[in-house]
Amino acid sequence: MAVIAHKNPQVTVTVVDINEDRIQGWNSDELPVFEPGLLDVVKEARGRNLFFSTAVEAAIADADIIFVSVNTPTKEFGVGKGSAANLMYIEKCARTIARVAKSDKIIVEKSTVPVRTAEFLKQILHAEGSEYQFDIVSNPEFLAEGTAIVDLNNPDRVLIGGDQTVEGKKAVAEVSKLYEAWVPKERILKTNLWSSELSKLTANAFLAQRISSINSISALCERTDADVDEVARAIGMDSRIGSKFLRSSVGFGGSCFQKDILNLVYLCEFFGLPEVADYWRKVVEMNDFQKRRFVGRIMTAMFNTVSGRNLAIFGFAFKKDTNDTRESAAIAVCRDLLEERAILHIYDPRVKKSQIYRDLGFDPDKEDSRVKIVNDPYQAVADCDGLAVLTEWDEFNDLDYSKIFERMRKPAHIFDGRNLLDAERLRQIGFTMHCIGKGETGAAVKPMRRKSDF
Ligand SMILES: NC(=O)c1ccc[n+]([C@@H]2O[C@H](COP(=O)([O-])OP(=O)(O)OC[C@H]3O[C@@H](n4cnc5c(N)ncnc54)[C@H](O)[C@@H]3O)[C@@H](O)[C@H]2O)c1
Repeated sequence: MAVIAHKNPQVTVTVVDINEDRIQGWNSDELPVFEPGLLDVVKEARGRNLFFSTAVEAAIADADIIFVSVNTPTKEFGVGKGSAANLMYIEKCARTIARVAKSDKIIVEKSTVPVRTAEFLKQILHAEGSEYQFDIVSNPEFLAEGTAIVDLNNPDRVLIGGDQTVEGKKAVAEVSKLYEAWVPKERILKTNLWSSELSKLTANAFLAQRISSINSISALCERTDADVDEVARAIGMDSRIGSKFLRSSVGFGGSCFQKDILNLVYLCEFFGLPEVADYWRKVVEMNDFQKRRFVGRIMTAMFNTVSGRNLAIFGFAFKKDTNDTRESAAIAVCRDLLEERAILHIYDPRVKKSQIYRDLGFDPDKEDSRVKIVNDPYQAVADCDGLAVLTEWDEFNDLDYSKIFERMRKPAHIFDGRNLLDAERLRQIGFTMHCIGKGETGAAVKPMRRKSDF
């Protein structure tokens, strides 16, 4: 919404949220979300035509177009538990809109929603007996966290779905006008509502599938001394495959991929397509396997005992350039290591201590000797037997690894969950390197390990 306001100075954009802390953050210079370039965009438009407020009802009453961007988490109870999307926040918004609207509105689904949510929205809006007209438009968001501003400034496409009626097309055209301020018309794709809703789930499912596909191959590389980066490069040069999104890692995270695939799985089951559901569920299972396998590698290297040992963790965010930890692979890895009674020293340049504590199930207001959160990477590695890189922050490449080596206990292991570091150089310093999808030494083919080793 900040970018829309920035590009359309004649349009007043009011962002409302029931969460007062967040709104306070948006009205300060410490935004609740860390995103490169975002503060500049917000500062430019804030107070001019971009406003942040908790006055939800007043903003609804004033608006011509309402972007519903609330959370749509995975349901944790009842029918569809663990896979369906919980639409209660969407429903609440719809009821409030119907209740307080004093004019016709265009309602934009910006949240990622299951296909046919617009139908549900229409029912709710009309159930409240409002005399006004509500046109529903689907406009899913394809930005990636960490590169949100770049993605929004130069989107591959903007997708707008609407009813194929005269009013529906008019509503789509109104929303399109906002984007036409900076997006070339040929990149604004107009479809029917259901195609638009389903395209967002499909896009995330395909993206996550690519990661799970290369991660599945990484497991085989580790057994055969093939190198997953070499394989990715070789297949990525095939123009039919393409080179992006082929980086093997400890596993994908983020608030969207898992939730959206599970949502797709639920929809397939709901519509009587269990084979299709199973196919997509495997993408999530492979991701879980990858995270477990990573911990398995740490355990194997440490002779199956990390109990009482110090391990350094570099990176807790689910990817670089964000402070978002939702579904971060670091959470699963750290929880498993804590289960094995390791003592963790965690360093992340952007994630706050309280967030890490909460994610690991600790009281954020109490110190716990099992998890030390530090502000300095050199402090993190002191007396550690191993160092696990779990987020691909660029700055991890610029550290003095000779100094790190000196501070660690020997043998000093590095488990590079992002294949970020220069393994050869680190081996020369003396580290034992464990990279994703690569043999331990890069030398001879090792004998097959037993399944139980992982
Ligand atoms: N985060 C992303 O990169 C991204 C990308 C594409 C799509 N999406 C989709 O966008 C949606 C939101 O994602 P998010 O990451 O911003 O979630 P979030 O949980 O960070 O934010 C949702 C906000 O909605 C507010 N909210 C809930 N109910 C409300 C109500 N009735 N009135 C006013 N405010 C209310 C919450 O307080 C919260 O601040 C989800 O459907 C997600 O799948 C997110």
